[in-house]
Amino acid sequence: MRQAILKAVAAGASAKKTLERVISKAGLGSRTEARSWIHAGRVTVNGRVTQNPDQWIDFEHDRVRFDGRPLEAAERLYILLYKPTGYLTTYKDPEGRPTVYDLLQDIDTFVSPVGRLDLDTSGLLILTNDNQAAEHLTNPDHGVAKTYLVKCASVLDDAALERLRSGVELADGPTRPAMVARVRDSERYSHIEITIHEGRNRQVRRMIDAVGSKVLKLVRTRIGPLAIGELKIGKWRPLTAEEIQALLPRRLWPQSTRPRSTSASETPHRAKAFRKKKR
Ligand code: URA
Repeated sequence: MRQAILKAVAAGASAKKTLERVISKAGLGSRTEARSWIHAGRVTVNGRVTQNPDQWIDFEHDRVRFDGRPLEAAERLYILLYKPTGYLTTYKDPEGRPTVYDLLQDIDTFVSPVGRLDLDTSGLLILTNDNQAAEHLTNPDHGVAKTYLVKCASVLDDAALERLRSGVELADGPTRPAMVARVRDSERYSHIEITIHEGRNRQVRRMIDAVGSKVLKLVRTRIGPLAIGELKIGKWRPLTAEEIQALLPRRLWPQSTRPRSTSASETPHRAKAFRKKKR
């Protein structure tokens, strides 16, 4: 699977970051640890020891080594997880509840969720280490569509669906126009499909509340061009190059893989540590 990931993503230079962030993002340790290693003189930039954790690093030009070994920009990684209910979209939970990272044991690069899904929501979640892509995908002005299947605790009439379509008033402002379709009704419940272009906190649940019902079940079935397809619940897969291109504007497409050194002494540090640290 790892091979597949490496093929599916491009090795790319990320935006500028401070040295401290570069070391911790590489998964070697926390930012506090990174600072102490930098102060201890274990890090060189372009061949010179630097003891300034706040120095700006540009991976296009700067060569960083830790204990003499080169540190490379992590490959850009984009994965699609089918989150089950009962998992938090956070890295760590003070109450020790399961998080999506428990489902990503075999990924050795730190990725962050793009937006969130509630504990009680299942469905598609993108995770990536590409901050610019994440920013694009979560910005409502870019209008990436997210589609949900909703089981409501009552039968919604056509007027309620129309209100959901044209926008309902929430505590943090009116919702933007949405696409809403009735999937089926039973005697007591409506099942609807709703597509929104925003990602406000608990937005779908609050929209259904606003038309006088409750969400009993919520599944995110699509994000832009991505659908659940063959993906099994609790599993993940890397996005294909075609999917990444369909999801992101051209200016954010990752560069194609660059040739790089393969000699043992040049083996870059890799991010296994973040899993270990969590335990
Ligand atoms: N809207 C919600 O209410 N919850 C989610 O998890 C996602 C969208």
